[in-house]
Amino acid sequence: MTMETWGDRNQMPITPITEAFAAEFSGVDLTQPVADDVIAAIEAGMDRYAVLVFRDQSLTDDTQRAFTRRLGPLEVATGGHVTATQDRRLPLDLQDASNLDQHQRPLARDDRRRMFNLGNRLWHSDSSFRAVTAKYSLLSGRIVVTHGGRTEFADMRAAYDALDDATKAEVEDLVCEHSLMFSRGTLGFTELSAAERTMFEPVRHRLVRIHPVTGRKSLFLSAHAGAVVGWPVPEARAFLRDLHEHATRRQFVYSHGWRRNDLVIWDNRVTMHRVTRFDEAQIRDMRRTTVAGLAA
Ligand SMILES: [Fe+2]
Repeated sequence: MTMETWGDRNQMPITPITEAFAAEFSGVDLTQPVADDVIAAIEAGMDRYAVLVFRDQSLTDDTQRAFTRRLGPLEVATGGHVTATQDRRLPLDLQDASNLDQHQRPLARDDRRRMFNLGNRLWHSDSSFRAVTAKYSLLSGRIVVTHGGRTEFADMRAAYDALDDATKAEVEDLVCEHSLMFSRGTLGFTELSAAERTMFEPVRHRLVRIHPVTGRKSLFLSAHAGAVVGWPVPEARAFLRDLHEHATRRQFVYSHGWRRNDLVIWDNRVTMHRVTRFDEAQIRDMRRTTVAGLAA
């Protein structure tokens, strides 16, 4: 592929998966240094489709990090989990989205780390519980399962566009509180130490976000959102539940079935995602790097 071809939008090696959401990006080897014009094409693809799928990328932790850094600064996973440092399987700049312990064995059913990780089955935006939320997540499927274990994505731009005018006006200036305590509390995971409660102190984010490049509005929803500033909590949760239901209708969703060495990138500012259930006796080794966003 020539440089000129990369510069021509019509020739970009992007195949939409749905009309306006999620696309497959082909013809690039992300294990090798990636040229600037290819990075620009990937960013343009992200702005347009919000989810990009790259097949057959046999990344190592180092090559995944190196490629991620081309898209922005790496987020470090301090404070977003209940795993003690000595029990971690991966370094802090790699999020462990596997079902494995530090000895590469599936976590026991009642392992606290596993129960905490089950929060990933709820629709969420990565790191919405952080003051600086995530821009892109890059998930590498090192060992995948064949049944279940899909990652589903919902388009929060389309969900916003489909709101009626009265609801758009109502959400325009709302601010939500996000915390891991809310998402885990939904699953009944409420036993937290005092240190964890301090670490999971809620942060505030606007419910409607404007994409800095496209100018499109989207709903910034997440299982971590458990309150609306100025609203009674039950009313806020009922409303957020209604919005989740609306935003995750199938016409807004792309469901990704993993192949080994897929790399999927999504824009957390304009999407939610979740993992579907799978047989956890099988090994599912998924590793995530994250591009930190800008402080809101
Ligand atoms: Fe996630």
